[in-house]
Amino acid sequence: MRNVIILGSQWGDEGKGKIVDLFSERFDIVARYQGGHNAGHTVFIGEKKFVLKLIPSGILRPGKMAVIGNGLVIDPAALLAEIDALESAGVAVAGRLFISSRAHVLFPAHRMMEKMSENRPGRVSIGTTSRGIGPCYEDKIARRGIRIADLMNTEVFRAQYDSVMEEKVAIARALGIEDELDLRRIRDEYEAFAERIRPMVCDTPMLLNEAIRGGKHVLFEGAQGAMLDIDHGTYPFVTSSSASAGGACTGTGVSPTRIGGVIGVSKAYITRVGGGPFPTEALDGAGDLIRRRGNEFGAVTGRPRRCGWFDAPLLRYTAAINGYDSMVVTKLDVLDEFESIPVCVAYRCCGREMASMPPTVAEIEKVEPVYEWVPGWRTSTFGIASFDQLPAKAKDYLAYLESQIGVEVGCISTGPERNQTIVRQGSRLEALIA
Ligand code: GDP
Ligand code: IMO
Ligand code: MG
Repeated sequence: MRNVIILGSQWGDEGKGKIVDLFSERFDIVARYQGGHNAGHTVFIGEKKFVLKLIPSGILRPGKMAVIGNGLVIDPAALLAEIDALESAGVAVAGRLFISSRAHVLFPAHRMMEKMSENRPGRVSIGTTSRGIGPCYEDKIARRGIRIADLMNTEVFRAQYDSVMEEKVAIARALGIEDELDLRRIRDEYEAFAERIRPMVCDTPMLLNEAIRGGKHVLFEGAQGAMLDIDHGTYPFVTSSSASAGGACTGTGVSPTRIGGVIGVSKAYITRVGGGPFPTEALDGAGDLIRRRGNEFGAVTGRPRRCGWFDAPLLRYTAAINGYDSMVVTKLDVLDEFESIPVCVAYRCCGREMASMPPTVAEIEKVEPVYEWVPGWRTSTFGIASFDQLPAKAKDYLAYLESQIGVEVGCISTGPERNQTIVRQGSRLEALIA
């Protein structure tokens, strides 16, 4: 069964966009299953740079279908801007992009609510992307959300919109929030967005299941990463959706019985944007060197990413909850200059060692990483496209990661471009995308 989930196995920005774009050549459909325009998936094709936020990276492959699943929250203004940018860069979107009628609609009021909760004195700031993602998912779970199907029916939309938005304005006023939203103007704007989106809206669970029954192959593209998952991540420093493998099923309406494999994408080190615990964070010059060499600045917000060392307990944990068949290790080239590279092999806390991630932030904040130093290779791996050509010490580093996690490294990325990638012969990954 050639339906495969690709997801981030750390705190996001692992290079999923590059890998999904590369592998989508071998699939018929690429489907996003959660998140919104908090995601920023960067793909380089020659000199051209694309940053995909809501649209699956597979859109960059001519002839492939792209699906925005029911698990997403959609800001129509952001979606239409993304479509326009792609079309003007010569990427045909019309007729290839399908949007779930069950996905939820994100409104400016969600951004206002988020600003309120992030900035209120005494509240723990998550360091969100300020896109309104959390409050939109709050409305979904509270069963007052407005879905794409509702937006398609003016009468239904107006009634829902007026009731939901009046409540938000009342809350904002009660809390003394200054921002005043022109609710009527926004409603008119959304009605205009609806007309542009309408031709792309459909029953995507049925579309996907019929395609699978007809022998088509689907690649599921995760956004964010498993450690930002609402259930499994470093709660409350997480996003509001199911970024791990289970989310691919609930977020698209494709059953686990139809999934053939799961691939986790990880950097050769680790980064995090926003607040929250980060046991292997390198707060010294080494962290700055990774940031500079890896150009570790957010694709959506431009914020400098926090950088640190490969964290095996974290990877063991995300490998367990997602059941990786194989792993992709990206940005190996970023470590080229280091004489030796620390790898966290366990956490130490209260006199004992732990092999995996503890469940609470309070516990994670107390752990001390136990490092093993692996010799660096100190030669350029940038752009290497064959495993044999990697320096022996870089191969040893990858083998060490494999032995620590217990999952094969089936693919290695050595640069941002498609051809700067190694797929290992005979790996499970090679079979999954064959
Ligand atoms: P995503 O959100 O997981 O798709 O990742 P981002 O696009 O936010 O961040 C990954 C960044 O690393 C992008 O700028 C990519 O172009 C870049 N990138 C991906 N793979 C490699 C690699 O192997 N080496 C280098 N140097 N850059 C890479
Ligand atoms: P991609 O798909 C990295 C982080 C934010 C913040 C937390 C909650 O490009 O890997 P949110 O706006 O989602 O409510 O913010 O999650 N975050 C990401 N970090 N990559 C992402 O997406 C992220 N999307 C959200 O920085 O800490
Ligand atoms: Mg990103």
